[in-house]
Amino acid sequence: MADTISIYNFKGGVGKTTTALNLGISWSKSFKVLLIDFDPQCNLSNSIGSNQKSTTVYQYLKKIMHDHDVNPQPEEITPYLHLIRGDLQMTHTESNNQFISFGKTMIDKLLMHFRNDYDFIIMDCPTNFGVLVKSILGASKNILIPAIADNFSLTGVQTLMTYLAAVENESLNILGVFFNMFNGNMNLSAKKYEESKENFGRLILESTVSRSIKVGEANDVGRSIEDYSPDNTAAKDFMKLSDELLAKFHSQTLNPDYIVPELLEKMRD
Ligand SMILES: Nc1ncnc2c1ncn2[C@@H]1O[C@H](COP(=O)(O)OP(=O)(O)OP(=O)(O)O)[C@@H](O)[C@H]1O
Ligand SMILES: [Mg+2]
Repeated sequence: MADTISIYNFKGGVGKTTTALNLGISWSKSFKVLLIDFDPQCNLSNSIGSNQKSTTVYQYLKKIMHDHDVNPQPEEITPYLHLIRGDLQMTHTESNNQFISFGKTMIDKLLMHFRNDYDFIIMDCPTNFGVLVKSILGASKNILIPAIADNFSLTGVQTLMTYLAAVENESLNILGVFFNMFNGNMNLSAKKYEESKENFGRLILESTVSRSIKVGEANDVGRSIEDYSPDNTAAKDFMKLSDELLAKFHSQTLNPDYIVPELLEKMRD
């Protein structure tokens, strides 16, 4: 039975897709991994995929919605790393009445066809918090939140936790927030990290990922930074993040329902 992980932040450009790609490639060396690209921008598919003709996530959802047989055939990147491609038409899930009424259960029904075949299903989310993201988070066991320290704020976390509470998934495990494109030598980043740790405790992961131009280069050729430039600091950072997450999977549950009141309490102080 697969562990499902959504990678989500309502802020754009924080490294959601980069994280999905790096964790996906890294974990596929020891586990069987499925990547699902839910973002209509299709950055993940364009980076790692090669078969433009493979069935897209939108095509799977349409079949499920019309009760047609689903023949799961994700694109094989390697024998242990598979991809369900994104689709520009995923924007319809926010406006088409059929999708909206299918709503909350839409992604759970999709995952049913894949859960038994993988150890991990990693889902790259779009930024907007709409029907689709609610459905993805509703069907996920875990959420991982990449963020940028410089603009990380109490209000941002509060908004995020309010969103998560709105998903009404009582078993959603918040793996935590990690800072990407982090520069610990910069005063602002270091200060923000310390402040965040003080405010949010174990919600903030120990691992941070440094900013490196090589990360973008690796993305461009559909490789992980670990394979593309193993000695790069960001490669080592992603390995640490991967270890921290693997250790965390079954060890604790941070439920948004109780984080929200905690945060509200802090706001009142
Ligand atoms: N650690 C890093 N160092 C340098 N550049 C990075 C790093 N992580 C991500 N990037 C770059 O930052 C940009 C945004 O990253 P990415 O696309 O992964 O973010 P995203 O949250 O998925 O964005 P979107 O909201 O558009 O989906 C990309 O150009 C990516 O190559
Ligand atoms: Mg993205």
